[in-house]
Amino acid sequence: MNTFGTPLSPSATRVMLLGSGELGKEVIIALQRLGVETIAVDRYDHSPGQQVAHHAHRITMSDPEQLQALILREKPDLVVPEIEAIATQTLESLEAAGAARVIPTARAARLTMDREGIRRLAAETLQLPTSPYQFCDTLQELQAAIEQRIGYPCVVKPVMSSSGKGQSRIDGPEDIQRAWDYAMTGGRVSHGRVIVEGFVDFDYEITLLTVRSRAADGSIETQFCEPIGHKQVDGDYVESWQPQAMHPAALQKAQQVAKAITDDLGGQGVFGVELFIKGDEVWFSEVSPRPHDTGMVTMISQWQSQFELHARAILGLPVNTALRTPGASAVIYGGVDAQDIVYEGVAEALRVPNTELRLFGKPESHVKRRMGVALAYDNDLDTARDHAREAAHQVKPRLP
Ligand SMILES: Nc1ncnc2c1ncn2[C@@H]1O[C@H](COP(=O)(O)OP(=O)(O)OP(=O)(O)O)[C@@H](O)[C@H]1O
Ligand SMILES: [Mg+2]
Repeated sequence: MNTFGTPLSPSATRVMLLGSGELGKEVIIALQRLGVETIAVDRYDHSPGQQVAHHAHRITMSDPEQLQALILREKPDLVVPEIEAIATQTLESLEAAGAARVIPTARAARLTMDREGIRRLAAETLQLPTSPYQFCDTLQELQAAIEQRIGYPCVVKPVMSSSGKGQSRIDGPEDIQRAWDYAMTGGRVSHGRVIVEGFVDFDYEITLLTVRSRAADGSIETQFCEPIGHKQVDGDYVESWQPQAMHPAALQKAQQVAKAITDDLGGQGVFGVELFIKGDEVWFSEVSPRPHDTGMVTMISQWQSQFELHARAILGLPVNTALRTPGASAVIYGGVDAQDIVYEGVAEALRVPNTELRLFGKPESHVKRRMGVALAYDNDLDTARDHAREAAHQVKPRLP
């Protein structure tokens, strides 16, 4: 983009977010600061991103007709997927027809929509190191795959799911039926396909935020943020921190893997490359062609958060991935199933030194739904982690 227009006028530069949760909300805020007109789309009203955008729409984004009609009506300069469950074939056909520019590309959105496209690309086409894996459509296939090839322990996941939904670890034959049943309830669509992966006994796992942006001469440049370490409970992130200390050889391999996968996916923007590390060995796990939940820590630890980096990169602007200070994030869960909850302890949380809060403003809370995040910085990473955890703990969601 060479010029930027005035929002809400015919000259506006217009960006549509498909999915407008907490990550989309921050991308929208970053775009707003650059004078971009924003269109927030989600499956429910008053989503976090819709609360800060110029325009809001509620549609079923997995419905090709609804998605196509909205894009053709709004005619945004850029379409920015924030979630996986989108009618990506519609994005591909609109992109091919020149009717939409999809971030990073429509193909990347399709390949990362479920676990199969991206895993086969990474392991089979690009030959990147991954856990051993097999896709299965029935309980019998799953049993055979584990007994004959994958072994124990292993992890079963629905092909389409996120945040650990439907995912479980299998330690012996007695666990298989339960894992299969659980995967069938946790998948986003009910076609019953799962991936079984050998369990990687890693020392730690990271998200390597990788940014593809335009250099002054128009060529694409790849830059890496400092690695983000994180802790997952039941497949959902509860804490993250930056920088994660790494053996230089492991960091180099991690960057090579991230470069290979993001080169192939192409386009411009931030990618969250998830990697498992043991010693100086690196395994590719998965990649989001967009900001990553564990990357919320960058709102306090980097000069430009992953959301500002994404906004800049997709608009063709230069980026700076430098760390500002060591920092940490800790998730605030809903703790209750209710609408319109209230948050106690916000002042107490912010009395913890060097902290910030983000309350996402989601209209509906669930016990395990992510409703906010606490951020902390400190020259000492352990102190930052303690303070983020303490601040998150002080915030107490309550029934209204
Ligand atoms: N093969 C494996 N070996 C060891 N641990 C694993 C394996 N696969 C997944 N995990 C653990 O489970 C977590 C979630 O897995 P994964 O990222 O595949 O699921 P997800 O539902 O896509 O999560 P999210 O959407 O939150 O990234 C990983 O971050 C890791 O901690
Ligand atoms: Mg993941």
